[in-house]
Amino acid sequence: MQRKILVTSALPYANGSIHLGHMVEYIQTDIWVRFQKMRGHECHYVCADDAHGTPIMLRAQNQGITPEQLIADVQKEHQADFAEFSIGFDNFHSTHSDENQALANQIYLANRDAGHIETRTIEQAYDPEKELFLPDRFIKGECPKCGAIDQYGDNCEACGATYDPTDLINPISAISGATPITKESEHYFFKLGHFEEQLKTWFRKGDHIQTEVAQKLKEWFEGGLRDWDISRDAPYFGFEIPDAPDKFFYVWLDAPIGYLASFKNYCDRTNLDFDEYLKADSNIEMVHFIGKDIIYFHALFWPAMLQGAGFRLPNHIFAHGFLTVDGKKMSKSRGTFIKARTYLDHLNPEYLRYYFAAKLGPGIEDIDLNLEDFQSRINSDLIGKVVNIASRCAGFIKKQFNGKLSSSLSEPALFDSFVNETDAIATMMENRDFGRAMREIMALADKANQYIDDKKPWALAKEEGQDQAVHDICTVGINLFRVLIVCLKPVLPQTAEQAEAFLNIDALTWSAVSTPLLGHKINKFKPLMTRIETDKIEAIQNDSKENLVGVKPLKAATPENTVIPAIADEISFDEFAKIDLRVAKIINAEHVEGADKLLRLTLDMGLEQRQVFAGIKSAYSPKDLIGKQTVMVANLAPRKMRFGLSQGMVLAAGPGGKDLFILNLDQGAQAGMKVK
Ligand code: MSP
Ligand code: ZN
Repeated sequence: MQRKILVTSALPYANGSIHLGHMVEYIQTDIWVRFQKMRGHECHYVCADDAHGTPIMLRAQNQGITPEQLIADVQKEHQADFAEFSIGFDNFHSTHSDENQALANQIYLANRDAGHIETRTIEQAYDPEKELFLPDRFIKGECPKCGAIDQYGDNCEACGATYDPTDLINPISAISGATPITKESEHYFFKLGHFEEQLKTWFRKGDHIQTEVAQKLKEWFEGGLRDWDISRDAPYFGFEIPDAPDKFFYVWLDAPIGYLASFKNYCDRTNLDFDEYLKADSNIEMVHFIGKDIIYFHALFWPAMLQGAGFRLPNHIFAHGFLTVDGKKMSKSRGTFIKARTYLDHLNPEYLRYYFAAKLGPGIEDIDLNLEDFQSRINSDLIGKVVNIASRCAGFIKKQFNGKLSSSLSEPALFDSFVNETDAIATMMENRDFGRAMREIMALADKANQYIDDKKPWALAKEEGQDQAVHDICTVGINLFRVLIVCLKPVLPQTAEQAEAFLNIDALTWSAVSTPLLGHKINKFKPLMTRIETDKIEAIQNDSKENLVGVKPLKAATPENTVIPAIADEISFDEFAKIDLRVAKIINAEHVEGADKLLRLTLDMGLEQRQVFAGIKSAYSPKDLIGKQTVMVANLAPRKMRFGLSQGMVLAAGPGGKDLFILNLDQGAQAGMKVK
C-alpha cells in the first residue's frame, strides 16, 4: 500500500555554518526519505532555517547589517552545503516567512482562546546600556561556588556547579560589559500542564517515541510539567504576538511551526492539500527527525501546541545522538570542529554519507567519526568491495562481448539469494537500523567478490573455448553489483546515478531489484570513486583549526591543498595607516587556566603595559617568550574575553600548531617605538 509521509529535519539556526554534527541529522533523514521514495511511497521532505532570536539579532548588529540580510546570506550558504551533500529537501524555507507568521498566530490564538495561555509579571536580568533583557547565556560573572571568574549563564566551567544566572557574583552583560539590573516585565506562558493526560495517553499509544526517550519523559512527568515562557520583550527579532504590542514569540514557539510553514509554502506551489495533512484525524504520517538535545521541545511542547490548536499530532519523533570526532566533542583547537564546507573542499560527500550510515542505528547513542577508521572503512568497503565487483567484470563485457550481457543467468540461485536478502535490508532501512543494513550489504559484496575469485574470469579469458563461461560469470557479477546498488542508492545517490549510467538503465527503484539485466548493452565503466588519501584528511583537520585568537595567522598553505581565499575588500592607504604597530617587549608570559591555546602576555610598550591574550601556546612555552621583543597592533579596540580583557594583538605567522612564529625583533629596538 502506498503511504503518504511528511518528513522533517530540525531547522538549523541561521546564525552559523553547517558542521558535520548537523550533517548526521540531515544525512540520516535524507537516507530515510530516499529509501521511502524508492519504495514507491509519496514522501515529502521539508526543512527551513531557524531565523529568529536574540543571537541572530546581535550578530547582525555586530556585522552592521539587518537581520533580514544576515539570514538571507546564511540561508544561501546552508542551501549550498546541503545541495552538495545531496540532501534532497523538497522544500527549504525560513521561519521568518509570511506562512510561518500566519500559522504561528493561528496556533497561538487557538491555544489562547482555549485558555492555555496565561500572563504574569516576572523579574529578569536587563542590560541598562543596551536596553534589552539578557538571555542566560549573555550574562557572565564569578561562580558562586568556587569563585572562578568569567563564567557564563548557569553553569561553571571550572567546578561544574549549576546555578541560576542571578546567583553569579559581580555579574556583567556579555554584550556591553554593563552590570545587569533586575527589571520586571509581563510574560506570556503556555500551560503545558493542561496537556499532561493527553500527552501521557499519546505516548502510551503506539510507537511515537523511542524507548530511551520514553524514559526521559517519565522523569520529566515525575518532575512536574512547568509553564513555558513563550514571550520575549522588544527589541527582539521575531514575530510580534497578536494583541500584545512589543511582545514577541520566543524563537522556540515559531520554530517547529516552521516545519508546517515550509510545507505550506510547498503545497501552495505544488497543489498539495495542506489541510488534509494537518487536520486532527489525518491518516497521513508526519515524522520529525531531531537531535537528542531538543527532545523536550518536540516531545512535549510541540504535540501540546498542536493538540491545543486542534491539529493532528506527529506519528514519530526520531531522535539521534551527537557526533563526536575521534572520541571527543568537536573542538576548534584540535581541528575537529569540521564545517560542512571544509569537508566538501577536500572529499566526496558520499563517503561521509556512507560512514554515517554505517554508524547509525535506531537509538540515541552518540556516534563517533574516527578519521582513521573513516578512511579505511571507505577504502575497504566502497572501493575495495562494491566498486571492485563492477570494475572486475566490466572490462571483459566491453572488450570481448561488445558491451552486451549474456542472455541468461548462469547462477540463478546465487542471484536469488541476493534478491531475497533485500527484504531484510529494507526492513532495517525502514527501522533506521542503517548500520546493520550496511553490514548486510557488505556481506553480500564479499560474497560477490568471492564468487568472482573462485571463477577467475581473467584466467579463463586466456583459455580456448571459455568465452561463454567468461561472459556468464561477468554477467552474474554485474547483476550482483546492480542488486547492491539498489540497496545503497538511498545512501549513495550520486554513485547510484553514475552506476545507472554505466548500466545504461533508468533510475532504479526498490522493486526493480528482482529482474536481472540480460541481453542488455552496458556502457563503458568509469571508476565510480577513488581511495581516500591521508593528505586529504590532514587538509581537513588543518583547515578546521580555529583562527587563532589574539594573533593574526598568516597561513602558508602547501601547494597541493591550497584553497586560496579571495583577497579581502580593498582598504585605502589612510585606513592602513591607522594601524599603529609598535615594538613591545614581552615582560611576562603565563598559561591561562582553562584555555588550551592561549597565553597571557604582559607587554611593555614604553609608556604603559598591556595584557594581551595570544593563541600561540601550541608553539611556545611561556618561558621562551619572556624577554623577546615583538610587534603588536597597539590601537586595536580592547576585547573582553572569557579570561579577561585583551588589549591589542601580537603579530605571528605560520601554518599553525608548532609552526607559528612571532616576529622577533632585534634587541636594539626600544619598547614603544613605532614600527614602519
Ligand atoms: N534551531 C534549533 C532546532 C529547531 S527545530 C524546530 C536547533 N538548531 S541547531 O542548528 O542547533 O541544530 C540543528 C539540528 O542539528 C538539531 O537536531 C541538533 O540536535 C543537531 N545537531 C547539532 N549539533 C550536533 C552534533 N554535534 N551531533 C549531532 N547532531 C547535532 O537546535
Ligand atoms: Zn565554579
